[in-house]
Formats: sequence, C-alpha cells, structure tokens
Amino acid sequence: MLAVTCTSQSADDPLSGLTVGDRPDPAAPAGWARVTVKAASLNHHDLWSLRGVGLPADRLPMVLGCDAAGVDEEGHEVVVHGLVGDPDWTGDETLDPKRSILSERYQGTLAEQVVVPKRNLLPKPSGLSFEEASCLPTAWLTAYRMLFTQAAVQPGDRVLVQGAGGGVSTAAIALARAAGLVVWVTGRDEAKRSRALELGAHEVFEPGARLPARVDAVLETVGKATWSHSMKSLRPGGTLVVSGATTGADPSADLNRLFFLQLRVIGSTMGTREELACLLRLLEATGVRPQVDEVIPLSDARRGFERLAAGDVVGKLVLTP
Ligand SMILES: NC(=O)c1ccc[n+]([C@@H]2O[C@H](COP(=O)([O-])OP(=O)(O)OC[C@H]3O[C@@H](n4cnc5c(N)ncnc54)[C@H](OP(=O)(O)O)[C@@H]3O)[C@@H](O)[C@H]2O)c1
Repeated sequence: MLAVTCTSQSADDPLSGLTVGDRPDPAAPAGWARVTVKAASLNHHDLWSLRGVGLPADRLPMVLGCDAAGVDEEGHEVVVHGLVGDPDWTGDETLDPKRSILSERYQGTLAEQVVVPKRNLLPKPSGLSFEEASCLPTAWLTAYRMLFTQAAVQPGDRVLVQGAGGGVSTAAIALARAAGLVVWVTGRDEAKRSRALELGAHEVFEPGARLPARVDAVLETVGKATWSHSMKSLRPGGTLVVSGATTGADPSADLNRLFFLQLRVIGSTMGTREELACLLRLLEATGVRPQVDEVIPLSDARRGFERLAAGDVVGKLVLTP
C-alpha cells in the first residue's frame, strides 16, 4: 500500500526523514479492525515525529498520521479515534499510562489502510464528508476537551484562543462560537486574523496585544511565544488550558501572578472516545464544519508537509489516498 513514513529524524530538517512509498499492508490482530482510509489529516504531531520528539528512533520506520476517516471491512463509514491504550483500562482513556497516539507505537493513518482496535471506530455522520471527518479525532477533539472538559466554560464566557490559523486554533474558534462564548483570537498576520473573524471570532488581535478586558479562559497551544500574554490576559480565578508548545516548552511560569490571582493552569491531551462521540453530535446539531484548507493526494504528501512546516495554513490539510 502507499504510505507516508518517517524513516529518519532530524530536529533541523524534519522533512529529510519523510518517505512516500510502498509499505506492506498491515495485519489486524484479534480484536482489531482494518480500515480503508478515505481521508487523513495532517497535524503538527507529524512534524514532531519527524523531528524526533515523542517517537523513539528504534520504532522507525513508522507510518505517520493520528487521525482518519474511512470504511471498515463490513462497509461501515467510520471515524478513527487515535488513542490506543490498555484493553483492560477503564475510565478516561487519556489518563491511561499505557496509552499512545497512532503513529507513536502503532502504525499511523497516512496510508491506504490502517488497523486499530475495534473500539476505536465511531460511525461517521452522513452529513460529514470523509475529508471533514478526518479533521476531528486529533485537532478538533483536543479543542473540544480543552474548552468543554478542562476550561468548563459556560455560554457568555469570554475565551482567548492563541493562534489564528492552526488546526487546534481554528477548531477552538468554531466550537467556542457555536457554544455561545465571546471569542477573542490572536494571529500573526492580517490575512489569518481576517480568516479567524470569518470562522467565528468576535475580535482579533496581534500576538501580545493588550486586550479590552480580561478573559475567563485562554486556550494555549503556541507555548513560549504567547505564554506570558496568556497569563496576563486572565481574570482572577481564570483558567489557562494548554495542550501544545509549538514555540518552546520552557516559558516563565509567572508564579506570582499564578498564586496572587488564583489562576488555574490545566494540561490537556487529545480526548476520550465519548468526547469524540459528543463532538460528532455537536457538529451534526450545529452544522459547524472543520475548515479544510486543502485536500492533497497522498502521493503528494510532501507538499502538504512543506506547507504545514511553513505555517502557511488556515485550518486543516487533508490527504486522500
Ligand atoms: N496535547 C495534544 O493532544 C495535542 C493535540 C493537538 C495538537 N497539539 C499540539 O498543539 C500545537 C498546535 O498543533 P496544530 O496541529 O494546531 O498546529 P498547526 O496547525 O501547525 O498550528 C500552529 C499554530 O501555532 C501558532 N504559532 C506558531 N508559531 C507562532 C509564534 N511564533 N507566535 C505566535 N503563534 C504561533 C500559529 O498561529 P498563526 O495562525 O497566527 O500563524 C498556529 O495557530 C502543536 O505543538 C501540537 O503538537 C497537542
């Protein structure tokens, strides 16, 4: 089968380890299902793997990709939940110490086929295209959990989303708007800020700009470049939810502000199968859909990776076998 594989890793030149070519068809162990992939979206996670972050070198070659939509062996249209954990784990599977994301321990989704535990398959709503559905299990699920589980925002709350065009950011903007929040967004360039307004932001700002008022919650995936602004933007008792550190993971902790204003800082990673099911229902009920920047043939995956690495994207890049 055709697949996009990480064959070597380089922190400075991640795309040097990207191979698009033939791989053996995967075998499905007992209790696992084979999915014919119709669409799979790119995530920043794929770049981290190529840089050698989160993917040990002794697991290479590794098919990249954390999420997909496709058709299972019975012909059902499915969305693939990308968290694989211990089959005996009960409760919130994001807290399972043995859990991994597809492409970390098990081969990923940027391929013509992927095998996953049967419980990782959810029915794809008919109103969502395969391309749209393939955006949901990583970026959109992460944004969903950050907003509704971790920040636990209420309609009318004010939320700041750091970053305008990213996969998680665009999801957070659309979901927050659909949930009745006041949505403020920072973006690095004018074009992306205008797109954020189209996606549902009420107001947009340059990174680091002084806001007209403090916010109830901040959704942070940028890391060092925006952390200090995130801390300063919160009202007393406000909540900062962080799920990524694209620009660096060692910002100043700002402890004085943290305790004096009784801020809450909460880490968040992916989401549960149940949260993914809720997200699917939310999209069906509201008509909100992922922003797909471009659909690219799997054979041309390198171009997609180049765009992702350049930060030249608003929403999601989707690969189709
Ligand atoms: N923990 C988890 O489960 C989880 C899940 C998904 C993602 N993540 C992590 O979250 C991060 C974002 O993922 P993604 O897939 O959304 O990535 P992405 O699509 O590449 O988006 C990157 C975002 O970062 C912003 N950004 C980059 N450099 C910046 C800078 N110097 N200053 C200000 N903003 C900057 C961009 O803002 P502009 O739009 O303004 O350019 C964009 O919104 C990644 O680090 C990823 O690994 C974690």
